[in-house]
Amino acid sequence: MRPLSREHPSTIVPPTVSGTAADAVAPVSVDVLYRRAAAGLPCWVGDPTGLRRALPVGRWLGGDASTPGDRAADEMLLRPCTGPTLDLGCGPGRFTAALAARGVRALGVDVSAAAVAMTIRRGGVALHQDLFASLPGLGSWAQVLLADGNIGIGGDPARTLRRARQLLGVDGIVLAELDPPSTGVRREYLRLETEHTVGAWFPWARVGTDAAADLATAAGLRLLDITQVQGRFITRMGRA
Ligand SMILES: C[S@@+](CC[C@H](N)C(=O)[O-])C[C@H]1O[C@@H](n2cnc3c(N)ncnc32)[C@H](O)[C@@H]1O
Repeated sequence: MRPLSREHPSTIVPPTVSGTAADAVAPVSVDVLYRRAAAGLPCWVGDPTGLRRALPVGRWLGGDASTPGDRAADEMLLRPCTGPTLDLGCGPGRFTAALAARGVRALGVDVSAAAVAMTIRRGGVALHQDLFASLPGLGSWAQVLLADGNIGIGGDPARTLRRARQLLGVDGIVLAELDPPSTGVRREYLRLETEHTVGAWFPWARVGTDAAADLATAAGLRLLDITQVQGRFITRMGRA
């Protein structure tokens, strides 16, 4: 899919590619994705051109389902989290639960009920809520996590970063995991897919590290540094 204009985010429209009748009967939701992941079943994310790639559900589950490389990169996100940490789009909660186990106050937030239940089951605290809805601790969090590309939630990374900034305390840090350099900002529509079913199209954005400084500025933040570990890119941003 071609990169979409950053200047005119409202001009992107969902694709008209449709699924089969069976797709409509059993659409794939994020809840289904996580339940399948817990059962060891794969899920894919598809784009309107018909391309699909496997989702790294093992990494999202963490623990034995992830690789040593995954865990080394996760540690780079966890290490700076020494104060109250908000994990936006926490998924199954590997970060939220790991911080809780280290005695760091952490709150996960996710729109998936299954993700929130999994986070709580592994010892984390999580809210079943949209990250753009009212959240506790506005302007007070020491760290805000946007792990595994979550800066792309909603398809408008500047908006997602602005939301993270609102939640941040004065000396707080946003930790956002980005794509490799040269990607820029790519806005797209994606859908979850299994072997037999597909979900609804949702807007997403992929952000390369080359776009990090401009996006930070647009959100009232400044880029502090970028760390590469195990092929993953972790940026730290503070208030401008
Ligand atoms: C790419 S997954 C990352 C999961 C998790 N951060 C991890 O690394 O394991 C994105 C997650 O964001 C959640 N999400 C998407 N839109 C959201 C929103 N508006 N508010 C809160 N969570 C959202 C999804 O339900 C999904 O669990």
